[in-house]
Parts: sequence; structure tokens; C-alpha cells
Amino acid sequence: MQQSALSTVTLTELDQLANRASTVISRLRDRLYAPGSEKQLDLRFNVRRAAEMVGRSDKLIRDAEADGRLPMPDKDAETGRRTGYSLAEVNRMREVFGTLPHRAPDESALVLAIQNFKGGVGKSTMVCHFAQHLALKGYRVCVIDCDSQASTTSMFGLNPDVDVDEDEDTLYPFFRHGGPPTLHYALHATYWPGIALIPANLGLYDAEYEFAARMARDQTFVLDRLREGLASIRDQFDVIIMDPPPALGMLSLSVLRAADALIIPAPPNNIDFGSTAHFLKMMGATLNELARHGGTRDYAFVKILATKMNDQKSAHQAIKRMMDAVFPLDMLKAVLKDSAEIDNAAANLSTVYETTGPATRTETHKRCRAYLDAVCTEIEDLIRMTWPSHHPQLRKEGKL
Ligand SMILES: Nc1ncnc2c1ncn2[C@@H]1O[C@H](COP(=O)(O)OP(=O)(O)O)[C@@H](O)[C@H]1O
Ligand SMILES: [Mg+2]
Repeated sequence: MQQSALSTVTLTELDQLANRASTVISRLRDRLYAPGSEKQLDLRFNVRRAAEMVGRSDKLIRDAEADGRLPMPDKDAETGRRTGYSLAEVNRMREVFGTLPHRAPDESALVLAIQNFKGGVGKSTMVCHFAQHLALKGYRVCVIDCDSQASTTSMFGLNPDVDVDEDEDTLYPFFRHGGPPTLHYALHATYWPGIALIPANLGLYDAEYEFAARMARDQTFVLDRLREGLASIRDQFDVIIMDPPPALGMLSLSVLRAADALIIPAPPNNIDFGSTAHFLKMMGATLNELARHGGTRDYAFVKILATKMNDQKSAHQAIKRMMDAVFPLDMLKAVLKDSAEIDNAAANLSTVYETTGPATRTETHKRCRAYLDAVCTEIEDLIRMTWPSHHPQLRKEGKL
């Protein structure tokens, strides 16, 4: 009797807790997705920074503006001061000066999966920051959210519950019987110049069951379908980044099958590293199994990235050293440190690369950007290695 009374109270409390939690979430959502408050990119670059990004001097930019090859820069209507350049304007300069970093037309877009079957290891964080790093450099990027939890979709300004229709916008219809012939229908432009998104929502979770049922009848259809879909859109992009679900299901298998290269984020603590070791084992077995059903998959690279690393914790350092010893050739050199900047940005469904204003002048922000830049540049260079047209430049930079 007493026990049931106790459990009744607990259940009620849980209910209240859940209600309060969803009130907080819906307030946050209302604020972030208020009508007329569509997410936009507020980044502006002064001429010196633009010159750095374009790879030409500010004098050459001024000359091009003076002789009409580039439009005159925007000025504030009241103060008459220059307001700086948007990313789209920087890309226009790159076009005029021939410094866009696109792959050569006969080279292939690289399909990268940021994969680990564990949640919370920093997959979506890396997907969003890496996509934006590439966009800042002028690459053409496609982000595919394959996770029904849709955190990447939210980061790119879409409310998965409201703005995304599982039957029209996500990967889901593509896997259905008689689905669309290509993935073009699912490509959504984002407020980031150069980034297209295939969004996700909770509907993708149900899809797993359907795929599993279909798998029993038609294994190769399900496993190869994503790869075929990517083949239909890859000519438009330099890099396609996939954010797979944190579980070994049909979607994750299709992602492993479709990827050209893998980044495996792994925080250097016991529990997460244990699960990463398990993931690697399962991945090995899974890839062998996949190979039995049609062709082996060779990856351009498979690298482990230490994420959420805390230098203050001796256990993190010890496990990182062990990771370096066990996988000497497979670890990215750069690590993604644990940073309040990343967490704070995420709380506003935003990234460190989108942060503007005084917050960007603090030392913590600059340090965090430096870690992120190091990680992203290392992965970018691995991708550039796959494009012979980039080799001369990589040699010049002493990277090849
Ligand atoms: N380097 C980091 N420093 C601080 N917080 C991080 C870092 N990487 C990820 N996080 C936070 O951890 C949580 C889980 O990260 P997320 O990228 O969503 O993981 P996953 O996609 O693997 O489930 C998020 O709240 C994110 O903001
Ligand atoms: Mg995620």
C-alpha cells in the first residue's frame, strides 16, 4: 500500500517535471523560431579579413571595385561607414579572382560520414562546424541529417516538428517503394551561402522499421539506395557530410556503405572510449558483412577524433595517450577540446562560427575557434588530398 502511494507520488512528480521541461523547450523554440525571426547569417568581414579569405590583397579588391569588376561595398545609410562584406560577397570576389577552392569538374565530391554508434560524442557538433568551416572557405557543401533527433536540422534554423515534412523533405520517401528517382527533392537551401541541407525529423525513426522489413525482401535495394541517391546530387557539391543516427540500424548501415571517408568522434573517457572500441569492432564486422553483399568498400580515410577533451582531467590525458599509442596512424592530430563556447552556442541552436559581436573578442572564444579551425583544417586537407587539382597548392603549403 505504502509502496504504491510512493510510486504514485513519484509518477506525478515525473509528470510535472516532464511538463515543466516541455514548457521550457517550447518557450526556447518560440523564441528561436518566432514568426519573422528566421535564422540568418550576420557575419560581416572587413576588407583585411576578406582579402585573407579570398587570397588576394585588399588593394586588388579595391581596384576591382573601382574598375567595376566588383560592386562598390555597402555603406551604412546614416554614418556612411563601410559595413563590411557578407560571405556571399566574399564568394563573389573569389569568383572574380579565380580563387574558389572547388574540386576540378572531373573530380568526385567526397562523401564524409561523422560516425559513432554512441550519442553525445560530438557528431552533430562536428557536422555543423565542419560544414560551416568549409562554407567559409568557399566550398559547395551538402549536409544530410540522417538522425531522427534532428539536432543538425535545428542548428540550421529549421524546426523539425513544424518546418520539416517527413514525406516531402527528408530522406524517408527516397527509401520507400516507388520513391522519387533522385535526391533533388530533398535539397533545401540554408541561410549559409554554399550549404544545402537534407533535413530530418522524428519520422525517420519509423523509417528504420520499414527499412528493416524491406531489408528482409530486398537487401541490396536498402543498402545501396543512399549511395545511389548521393550519386544523383554529388555533381553539385565538393563535400557531402552525413550525420548518421547513434545506433546500428539500416540508416547507419546505408551511411557506412555510401561514405567515401569516415571521421569517428570519441571523447577520451572510459565509458565513451569503451563504446568507441566496441563501435570499431562492430564496424569491422559490419563492413565485412556488407562486403559479402556486393563489393568491398575502401575508404579514402578513416580517422578518430578526440572530442570533448579536458586537459585538466588526468584521466582524459591518460586515455588520449592510450588512444595515440593504440591508433598511431588513425588519430587526427588536432583534438576538439571541451569548451563552454560550444555548449553555450548550442544552447541557442547556434555554432561558434556563427557567433558575432563582442562575444567573439574574448580569449575563450578565440581559443575555441583555434581548436575548431585546427580540427576542421586537418579534415579539409585530407579531403583535398583526394583531388589531384589541389595537390600543387597542398605542396606549396608544405602539406604534401
Ligand atoms: N567540444 C565540446 N565542448 C563542449 N560541449 C560539447 C562539445 N562537443 C559537443 N558538445 C555538447 O555535447 C552535447 C552533445 O553533442 P552532439 O554533437 O549533439 O553529440 P552527438 O551528435 O554525437 O549526439 C551537445 O550539447 C553539444 O553542445
Ligand atoms: Mg547528433
